[in-house]
Amino acid sequence: MFSKSAVAVAAVLLGFSLQAHAHAGVTPALGVTGTFARSNVQRPSQAKPCGNINIAQNIDSSTAITAAANGTFAATITNFNAGVDGSRQVTAQIDPTGTGQSFTAATVLQNGDKNPTSTGSQQLVVEMPAGTTCTGGATGDKCLVSFVTAGGFGNCAVVQSATAATGGNATAGTAGTAGTAGTAAGTGTTSTAAAGTKKGKGKKAKAAAAAAKAKQAQAAQAQAQAAQAQAQVAKLQNKVKQARDINAVGSRAARALRRAQEAADDMA
Ligand SMILES: *[C@@H]1O[C@H](CO)[C@@H](O)[C@H](O)[C@H]1NC(C)=O
Ligand SMILES: *[C@@H]1O[C@H](CO)[C@@H](O)[C@H](O)[C@H]1NC(C)=O
Repeated sequence: MFSKSAVAVAAVLLGFSLQAHAHAGVTPALGVTGTFARSNVQRPSQAKPCGNINIAQNIDSSTAITAAANGTFAATITNFNAGVDGSRQVTAQIDPTGTGQSFTAATVLQNGDKNPTSTGSQQLVVEMPAGTTCTGGATGDKCLVSFVTAGGFGNCAVVQSATAATGGNATAGTAGTAGTAGTAAGTGTTSTAAAGTKKGKGKKAKAAAAAAKAKQAQAAQAQAQAAQAQAQVAKLQNKVKQARDINAVGSRAARALRRAQEAADDMA
């Protein structure tokens, strides 16, 4: 003869033993390095949304899933038992602060089988609520996601927002502009002394053409000289710089060299 309560206890025990054999979890998982094993599966609850995994201690060291710019991300669910108790169907909650304190529901766009006939893995696709900005972890761009299967198992995962990860327009300090190497002097303006239109007949025209040619030659020479002077100034500047690099800032020599450099710069 069984009392009603004995039946109830037996039912609870049976249910417990079934659940104890049913496991499924999502990877990459919070606090799990290496292959995700059956023993890594948690039983997330309201009080412990990541089961027994310490969130603060693991959020920075755990592999993060990168979210796409449109707020979706993919993960993998693996079950270690068939049936609803080993369900690969999940619900997801996201905590943008990464602390495990403020979860809100996320939309599962692609889910796994509720009642799988065997063990295995399936891809999940989750969409974060519009406007979600991940602010958790040391990097300040991580979210925490808690997955719970239809069988009551699951675990947490870390998601990193794509935009914050790449820093959008990361203004990584522009490299110092290379010292301007004295403006190219070249004051020898390319003589545009109209090279006498040869159409104009006669000696005058010819003389004008010759004069123009001479002027052009002169201009070219002036340009060459200017370039040479320029090169010398650059050399001088470089020498001063080398000397300054060797002499400690503040030393007498350094001060003298600084004046020399200023002079050289003026020449440039
Ligand atoms: C979101 O972006 C990902 C990656 O670019 C893309 O594969 C996916 O189809 C997009 N989903 C939606 C709902 O727009
Ligand atoms: C990055 O900066 C460029 C130029 O200022 C701008 O056109 C572009 O929209 C910016 N992109 C983002 C993602 O902010």
